[in-house]
Amino acid sequence: MNPPLPRVDALAKVTGQVRYGADWVPPGLAHAALTPAAIGKGRVVSVETAEAEAVPGVLLVLTRLAEGELTAPTFLMVGGDAFESVQPLLDDKIAHRGQPIALVVAETPYAAAEAAALVRATYEEEPVSVTLDDPGVEVRDQADVLGPYEDRVVGDADAAYAASARRVDAVFDLPTQHPVPMELTSSVVYWDDGGVTVHEGTQNASAIRRGLAGQLGLPQERVRVVAPYVGGGFGNRNSLQMQTGLAAVAARRLGRPVKLVVPRELMFHNSGFRPASRHRIRLGAGPDGRITALLHDVDQQTSRYDVFPASYTDTSARVYAVPAFRAHQRIVFTDSQTPGYMRAPYEHPAVFALESAMDELASATGLDPVELRLLNDTETDPLTGLPFSSRHLAECLRRGADRFGWARRTPQPGSMRADDGSLVGWGVASAAYKASAAPALTRLRLDPDGGLTVWAGAHEMGQGIRTAIVETVVGLTGMPAGLVTVEAGDTVGVPHQLTAGSWGTATVLPGVYGALEELRKRLGAPPTGPLPRVAAPAEVEVGSLAPGQPPEALDRVIAGGMAPAGPVYPDFTAYSFAAHFVEVRVEPTTRRVRVARTVSVVDCGRVASPVTAASQVRGGVVWGIGAALREHAEPDPRFGGFANADLEGYTVPVNADIPDIDLEFIDEPDPSLNALGVKGLGEVSMVGVAAAVANAVHHATGYRARRLPIRIEDLL
Ligand code: MOS
Repeated sequence: MNPPLPRVDALAKVTGQVRYGADWVPPGLAHAALTPAAIGKGRVVSVETAEAEAVPGVLLVLTRLAEGELTAPTFLMVGGDAFESVQPLLDDKIAHRGQPIALVVAETPYAAAEAAALVRATYEEEPVSVTLDDPGVEVRDQADVLGPYEDRVVGDADAAYAASARRVDAVFDLPTQHPVPMELTSSVVYWDDGGVTVHEGTQNASAIRRGLAGQLGLPQERVRVVAPYVGGGFGNRNSLQMQTGLAAVAARRLGRPVKLVVPRELMFHNSGFRPASRHRIRLGAGPDGRITALLHDVDQQTSRYDVFPASYTDTSARVYAVPAFRAHQRIVFTDSQTPGYMRAPYEHPAVFALESAMDELASATGLDPVELRLLNDTETDPLTGLPFSSRHLAECLRRGADRFGWARRTPQPGSMRADDGSLVGWGVASAAYKASAAPALTRLRLDPDGGLTVWAGAHEMGQGIRTAIVETVVGLTGMPAGLVTVEAGDTVGVPHQLTAGSWGTATVLPGVYGALEELRKRLGAPPTGPLPRVAAPAEVEVGSLAPGQPPEALDRVIAGGMAPAGPVYPDFTAYSFAAHFVEVRVEPTTRRVRVARTVSVVDCGRVASPVTAASQVRGGVVWGIGAALREHAEPDPRFGGFANADLEGYTVPVNADIPDIDLEFIDEPDPSLNALGVKGLGEVSMVGVAAAVANAVHHATGYRARRLPIRIEDLL
């Protein structure tokens, strides 16, 4: 066993050598700025640009693109590449708040911003409906809108629920949230004889390449997307956004490189967000606490023009042994931009609702919350009847309870106090997240100096994929980490696809494994041990597939598309699991809630990179605390969109909110999923944390949170 490898790019990052999208400054760079519409929905009647054009240094003011100069992209969830189907400056329609009505390009960012603020317009305004309950929204059954997302049914859940000795029936409201990655959305775009090059932080270089090529009417080969490092993704950067095409058009018109950085408040309105969702959970059990039925009804927001699908109930059905299950998901069409994936997009809300209800069931049955969860563990996927490829949830709960000291908990709410008089609450929650994987094309080159270069179709978003690749190569060859170079995030290398949904590691590492095997074969080297010395560079390119995938899945990826598989594979269902334990302290007078400590035990298969994996878990716990106690993008009934669209109004946890985070991995390989036995980690780390916080708040105060975030006024 080698000692855990430190993050391979840590030094480069802290010394400023890593370049993110907007850090690229090609010679002759011009700077762009956007003018957002002053209404949330309606039509632009007239635009006045004379004042903007008069600002010194202004090069171009664009309010309407020429016919065919740029076309609207196709929405990601219907086979396209874009987070939404709206592209600004193509017509006079304003579909959502924050939609740009003008793009200004100038010699400096200051001139561009000044001029953008001087673009004036008149509008015809339409009313907006922004919440699930607004009378102006349209509500439709998801089954009617999207065929493939049919409601899941196992047994007769209604009858089983009605006959249950113990019943919990509760509705949970989860708010709109934004992922607020540190790196602002941006594009640096330039044209040359080869075509157009885009430097942009993204989780999906291929989507930008294919989508922009389509928008510009170019073959994909003439678009290069470079994203070696991304300042946080979390689903927010999973596809093409509106600024890339605008910057490309401006750069083409001016014959100069153009940089367009989307300011934070416009990011709140021009990229994906976690949609509002409402969950009615009906949970039935016998007097012994064994679950007899689960019914899960969901309403989830989307925009007026794209259907971001609801997929909550696939996870809620799989956390426990559920003999009878019924799901019903509805789509609520509201006036916002199209929502999208945000860290554990379905699983955080679904599991918050389920795990809150489980806590109520513990009270209703008199069982300890950990015991209740252990009692309802299952080795079989309730939806398909297939075995789980690996499932160590019970072990997560047991080890977590030990580490946390759960045995010292007294069950009565309000029964535990700290020395300073504050109320102490201890809460627990389980977590599950689907283990998907995708095809990958991986290239290796072994050089005579012993150096190995790995081209992987992956994106380094801070999650540590480069470290995981290097550590895997070191583990398989024994070579020094310093001899391994990872090339990732550049469409010139190998095909890239969306790095998200926690399938990055389980996609890329099997590719690296397969490519190393092929390299050894090519060189006549033994299947294990150090790689041989070569006299000339030796190169292999190898395709890998998820279990059960046909070879055509790889062709889809090579063509610029996506082909993720799972969580249901031919012979098994694959999930990652976790258990979270949380202690809160509630100040008795002000009711201020502080999380005092957390313990998380995670089953993500074999841990590929212990150092970066631990960081992923810490990030997930921080995010869960934010979801429980802080984060809410407030829908704005006046203008659509969100009222607190900046980091002053949208509060994320700060250091003072975060306690010691204790964590442990089960670290058992899942050999069914891939040869290395790795499952996904990033998202499952966040799932369940908010429920554990809310359950701890209930234990401290007796208050049962039915909506998030929990606010002080809820506890007064
Ligand atoms: Mo995943 S929704 O890309 O965090």
